[in-house]
Amino acid sequence: MRITLTRPDDWHLHLRDGAMLRAVLPHSARQFARAIVMPNLRPPVTTVAAAADYRARILAALPDGARFEPLMTLYLTDDTSAGEIRRAAGSGFVKAVKLYPAGATTNSAAGVTDLAQCGAALAEMEKTGMPLLVHGEVTDPAVDLFDRERVFIETVLRPLLERHPGLRVVFEHITTQEAAEFVASAGDDVGATITAHHLLYNRNAIFAGGVRPHYYCLPVLKRERHRAALLRAATSGNPRFFLGTDSAPHARRAKEAACGCAGCFTALSALESYAEAFEQAGALDRLEAFASFNGADFYRLPRNEGSVTLEKETWTLPESVPCADGGELAPLRAGEPVPWKFLG
Ligand code: DOR
Ligand code: ZN
Repeated sequence: MRITLTRPDDWHLHLRDGAMLRAVLPHSARQFARAIVMPNLRPPVTTVAAAADYRARILAALPDGARFEPLMTLYLTDDTSAGEIRRAAGSGFVKAVKLYPAGATTNSAAGVTDLAQCGAALAEMEKTGMPLLVHGEVTDPAVDLFDRERVFIETVLRPLLERHPGLRVVFEHITTQEAAEFVASAGDDVGATITAHHLLYNRNAIFAGGVRPHYYCLPVLKRERHRAALLRAATSGNPRFFLGTDSAPHARRAKEAACGCAGCFTALSALESYAEAFEQAGALDRLEAFASFNGADFYRLPRNEGSVTLEKETWTLPESVPCADGGELAPLRAGEPVPWKFLG
């Protein structure tokens, strides 16, 4: 069996920089025409000038002949000015601004400590239609890790949208039933990305027979009822849910450590994993809109031309791929069989 889709896009991707960028970029460029590139580098991409430089480094790292358009984002800080947002909106290549609550995840230390500080930038985003991409977790250590997304909705996101009713928001990598319901009941200007790993796995995967660091990401995998709700949302046909892999590479030694980094490296089998989840839900016919139409429509960008084909054929993911300085990256599901194969 084969399925053919309009060439898809990845609306949430970590490409990193330098040698790591060169190691991971070909995998995403093989499957996706465009990707929204996360700005949580060290130092973070906080200005249009920095985003222009980063974009040039990505284009220079593309394999010969690859066609791939990086869609850049700015990293919101307490100090982001309305002027920077105006320049971003006028740049043509910055497509969104990312909110990391300070301390929420990898390289978020420079993130927002208090959204009330960001009023001028957010007002400018409302005016220009520039989407705010939200890492939706509270950072209060007193809040249980598994509740941080649910608490964020009521304490941060709903009040934010009340203060800025014209703000366009993508609730990134949603992981809970509450987030799926919030987005489904919101207006046209609120969308969400969903990762393949949150569609395929619940939190048991992190602890199957021992601790499995490659399944650790943020927001962390949740219990089964949440996975089921995400799968229902992704396959519902609602155009405000779309594909965002959140492929987030870390060297194996940084994952398999006493304090392992958060992030699942999924770019090697991204589209295949979504096909697997949609097939499980009996909804393969809805994969194309989720992967290739809904995100482009939300971002008000043209849909891609061309197509890609997947075949129902089992293959085995490699144990690792090489990266910088003799290190290696382990893909999620390393060495395991994958039932769909990307043909190109
Ligand atoms: O698991 C994650 N990894 N979640 C994030 O929000 C950031 C990402 C990363 O950059 O590694
Ligand atoms: Zn991410």
